[in-house]
Amino acid sequence: MRTVSSAPILSAVPGGGAIPRHVAIIMDGNGRWAKQRHLPRLAGHKAGVDAVRKVTRAARAMGIEALTLYAFSSENWRRPEEEVSDLMGLLRIFIRSDLDELARENVRLRVIGDYRRFAPDLVAMVDGAIARTAGNDGPILAIALNYGAQAELVGAARQLAEDVRAGRMDPSAIDAGAIEARLDTHDLPPLDLLIRTSGEHRLSNFLLWQAAYAELLFVETLWPDFSPAELAEAVAAFGRRQRRYGGL
Ligand code: FPP
Repeated sequence: MRTVSSAPILSAVPGGGAIPRHVAIIMDGNGRWAKQRHLPRLAGHKAGVDAVRKVTRAARAMGIEALTLYAFSSENWRRPEEEVSDLMGLLRIFIRSDLDELARENVRLRVIGDYRRFAPDLVAMVDGAIARTAGNDGPILAIALNYGAQAELVGAARQLAEDVRAGRMDPSAIDAGAIEARLDTHDLPPLDLLIRTSGEHRLSNFLLWQAAYAELLFVETLWPDFSPAELAEAVAAFGRRQRRYGGL
């Protein structure tokens, strides 16, 4: 499959092409990045957090309204306990070290996924971070934590069933909008561009509903090496694509 690695590197926001309003990234390849350097997997995840910092800054500078990052999937619990705990530790460090900047930069921090299954202190930190930036009106940084698209859709179906059972809704009123309103992403712009790093060509239970009309981009780069220049290339590739939404 084609990647953007041969596209010209743009030094600034690409001119002419449309800027995606909402970009989502499956940040894959931290483990392989570490292995290539004979380092422990944790070193790869740490380098992954550095990439998160650089790429979120670049997304803001390009005028991307919402960036959604897949940080911990509902399937990641299957990893060794030590790695799960390392990832939670990195999330704590990220909130401690980066929340001031996000708040100052007018970013609204959001979480998608069932993060309430995390340790109580981490849930409190995440809630505090969301509350601290809730009054901002700038770009959205949505972090997917214990997120799985199938569980998200099951949750929406359950809410609809409850609404019908309680007489608040008629089954004939259930349409795509009714489902979207019950997804974790209900207040985010429509997903325009979904990027997966590290050469894997899968969605891995990420934003399955939202990806219906998104442009998909698979790049070979391992996540820790994914740079602002590569985000600019991805945005430029998006600007060159023609979106027809089923029309001609
Ligand atoms: C995939 O690489 C990456 C993850 C499962 C975790 C992504 C997490 C981060 C980048 C750090 C935490 C994020 C924030 C926002 C603080 P992999 O381990 O599956 O890599 P591999 O496929 O090469 O083994």
